[in-house]
Amino acid sequence: MKMAFQQELWQPKELDVATDQLTRTEEKKELRIPAERAQSVGQTVGKPFVDNPRMICREVNVYYGDKHAIRQVSLDIARHEVIAMIGPSGCGKSTFIRCLNRMNDTIDGCRVTGQILLDGQNIYDRQVDVVPLRAQVGMVFQKPNPFPKSIYDNVAYGPKIHGLARNRSELDQIVEISLRKAGLWEEVKDRLSQSGTSLSGGQQQRLCIARTIAVGPEVILMDEPCSALDPIATGKIEELIDELRQQYSIAIVTHSMQQAARVSQRTAYFHLGDLIEVGQTDQLFTMPRHKLTQDYITGRFG
Ligand SMILES: Nc1ncnc2c1ncn2[C@@H]1O[C@H](COP(=O)(O)OP(=O)(O)OP(=O)(O)O)[C@@H](O)[C@H]1O
Ligand SMILES: [Mg+2]
Repeated sequence: MKMAFQQELWQPKELDVATDQLTRTEEKKELRIPAERAQSVGQTVGKPFVDNPRMICREVNVYYGDKHAIRQVSLDIARHEVIAMIGPSGCGKSTFIRCLNRMNDTIDGCRVTGQILLDGQNIYDRQVDVVPLRAQVGMVFQKPNPFPKSIYDNVAYGPKIHGLARNRSELDQIVEISLRKAGLWEEVKDRLSQSGTSLSGGQQQRLCIARTIAVGPEVILMDEPCSALDPIATGKIEELIDELRQQYSIAIVTHSMQQAARVSQRTAYFHLGDLIEVGQTDQLFTMPRHKLTQDYITGRFG
């Protein structure tokens, strides 16, 4: 059901189409174009592309069997940015970020088309090995999922299997640096041999972030990383995300528009599998260019 495009699209600002396609609605002083015309000039409004991107996604489609879950999405992920993915439940946020490290490969019947490049290399090329790819593009899930191992081993596991340490002291160093970057070292340095599952939910989530950092990622994907956490633990993760941006690109899915506004520089709004609008976060929340974005952020939809 594509009710979205039976509506008119609302554009308060300039639009990248010829002005003869625009008709002015006198009473509202808004610029409007017919929905069919907007579709024909491309569905995404705003700025999906950046200079010198870390990741490039072009015309990405995802199907679960016959279901077309992501449609023709083109988007760049910049270096040193946090980009938030927002939109109503079922719009494809998780499906889209799972494409970025081929996590959808693990789902039976899931098919991805289009191009996704990481530093110029198509990650869907036949010769790409998904094990190192998933280290380069790490993922943090909604529910903290530490391994049933010690705190130390949770972080050391990845570097060991990827052969990143030559000896125990190098491994110790990677574990400490990763836990420090995840803002957890001071809280756990005296109990590294205790089980990761003995930590609080917020600490477990930071442990999962440390585990992701330990294998030297370039991009970190986070799918609602705070939805199981209280406001204090959430605040700590949000501060951490801001620090991590110095080194990594971060794509975060969130249902909290306040969180998107606090942590991200750009925001992407998805609706029924379409990428509707991408823009600077402050602009997107204060001056959305698309009516669907406006309806969502003002609580009229979703
Ligand atoms: N494994 C799957 N098999 C079949 N369909 C799926 C699968 N995963 C997701 N879908 C469908 O794809 C669409 C997008 O789902 P997705 O989980 O990506 O949405 P979302 O935006 O992350 O939603 P939420 O905010 O609820 O997490 C939905 O219609 C969903 O039912
Ligand atoms: Mg989801």
